[in-house]
Amino acid sequence: MLSTAICVAILCLLAVSSISPVQGKPAIIAPLPTNIYAIQFGRAEVGCTVKDTVNKPTKINFVRTSKFGDIDVIYDEGIGGRIQYKNKTEDGGQILTSTLVINNVTLKDSSDFGGYECIGYSGNQKDAYGFTINVINRNELPGIAVSENKTVQFGTEIILSCNLTLKMDVDTTKLRKLMWIKGGQVIDEVLYPKEQTLKSRKFKVSDPSDGGLYSCHLISRLRDSLDYNITDSIHITVKPKFFKDLMDNEVKVFKGKSATFECSAKGNPLNTFWKRKLKSEKSANMLKEGENWNSRYSLSNLDKMEDHSLTISDVGYGDRGFYYCCIQESETANNTKEQDDVEGCQKFTLRVKDPLGALWPVIGIIIEVILLVIIIVLAEKFKKKKTESTKTDGRVEFSYSSTDDAVDKGQVRLRPSAAATSSGEKA
Ligand SMILES: *[C@@H]1O[C@H](CO)[C@@H](O)[C@H](O)[C@H]1NC(C)=O
Ligand SMILES: *[C@@H]1O[C@H](CO)[C@@H](O)[C@H](O)[C@H]1NC(C)=O
Ligand SMILES: *[C@@H]1O[C@H](CO)[C@@H](O)[C@H](O)[C@H]1NC(C)=O
Ligand SMILES: *[C@@H]1O[C@H](CO)[C@@H](O)[C@H](O)[C@H]1NC(C)=O
Ligand SMILES: *[C@@H]1O[C@H](CO)[C@@H](O)[C@H](O)[C@H]1NC(C)=O
Ligand SMILES: *[C@@H]1O[C@H](CO)[C@@H](O)[C@H](O)[C@H]1NC(C)=O
Repeated sequence: MLSTAICVAILCLLAVSSISPVQGKPAIIAPLPTNIYAIQFGRAEVGCTVKDTVNKPTKINFVRTSKFGDIDVIYDEGIGGRIQYKNKTEDGGQILTSTLVINNVTLKDSSDFGGYECIGYSGNQKDAYGFTINVINRNELPGIAVSENKTVQFGTEIILSCNLTLKMDVDTTKLRKLMWIKGGQVIDEVLYPKEQTLKSRKFKVSDPSDGGLYSCHLISRLRDSLDYNITDSIHITVKPKFFKDLMDNEVKVFKGKSATFECSAKGNPLNTFWKRKLKSEKSANMLKEGENWNSRYSLSNLDKMEDHSLTISDVGYGDRGFYYCCIQESETANNTKEQDDVEGCQKFTLRVKDPLGALWPVIGIIIEVILLVIIIVLAEKFKKKKTESTKTDGRVEFSYSSTDDAVDKGQVRLRPSAAATSSGEKA
């Protein structure tokens, strides 16, 4: 009897002890604190979760343990502090999670100078779990050195380089990839680079898109555990330039149509502004919103490195004049200096034509034809009248001469007889 009772008790104890977590006791549960790698001057984060289904866990302390068994609590230094705790409760307070954050990790934070433990408390009981922090010295880190930012002209040849720099040869540092990225695209890459194997990029700047940001990326893994990716960039500025004659730009449009001035400037970055000198204006002025800006004006492609343009819709005679596309040397440059200074700007001359303009010659011809017809008709009429009047004249002459030359009757008779014969013949 007694032996069975003992047996049952032992079984019960076994059963109880096999249930984890034990009821009414705090237990560190998954995700468990892990052994972490941190980079000197970098940041380290370790999480620890404690659960108690009977009592609510009261707190979690992270501690340092010395070789001699001393325990030092790592205190939360609050916002802005080097050491911070981030606490969170779940399941009505039965689960408490604390995350230890170490900003600006120092070599002294390494477990070599004292181990780490996370201790969870509930009631008057506790549970502890140890972990390590491995601090990687900055000197062990691979690095990259890129060439300097440049401002170049179109046609210039440039060389971009990205060299690997290793201060210390560490067996456990694995260089995986070195690559150039431009505009989100990998333009060159070397797998498992050794020493400095990424070829320098040499090319001639012929398009504004040749400028921009080139970034060099090194992907590596430290101590077979920690991903270490670094990036450095080179910015290439392509000095803006006009690609067309600055003066000889005439834009002819019919009244009511729209006129577009296409600025030939290209550059990276390209910033332009416009000036205007209407026929009615004495000097050129910068086009400014709220001043001389017209709602019929619109600028386009300003976000691009070329093809900036100004369009005027529903052009009127009042729009005639000069328009200038000017390059803004830098975004902070002061362009208000000389209002009428259009030196180095691309000049456009706007000529506005009458929509009937093309018709005028036709209208002219029509009018000419009409006039001609009128003239011909009139001429015909005039001619008819003239012949009639000559006949009358004949008669007058006849009667006149007959009366006048009464002395020479023989001659007088001859004429009417001739007229009579001719009229007789006609009849
Ligand atoms: C988190 O918990 C620890 C231990 O109880 C405490 O010292 C610290 O102030 C708490 N931090 C925050 C931000 O609640
Ligand atoms: C990090 O700590 C070092 C000394 O331990 C100090 O020189 C450095 O300025 C600190 N950096 C930051 C960002 O606080
Ligand atoms: C990279 O190495 C090449 C060849 O040694 C050298 O010409 C170039 O100046 C180096 N670039 C940088 C940024 O150190
Ligand atoms: C490093 O780069 C690799 C490859 O692009 C990526 O898988 C990894 O998540 C990166 N790691 C970090 C810490 O950025
Ligand atoms: C190079 O240009 C980039 C982008 O404009 C800038 O962030 C960076 O500070 C520049 N680097 C140098 C060394 O001037
Ligand atoms: C530009 O120049 C004008 C006149 O000289 C001056 O009033 C203004 O403050 C300047 N603006 C900048 C951004 O320098």
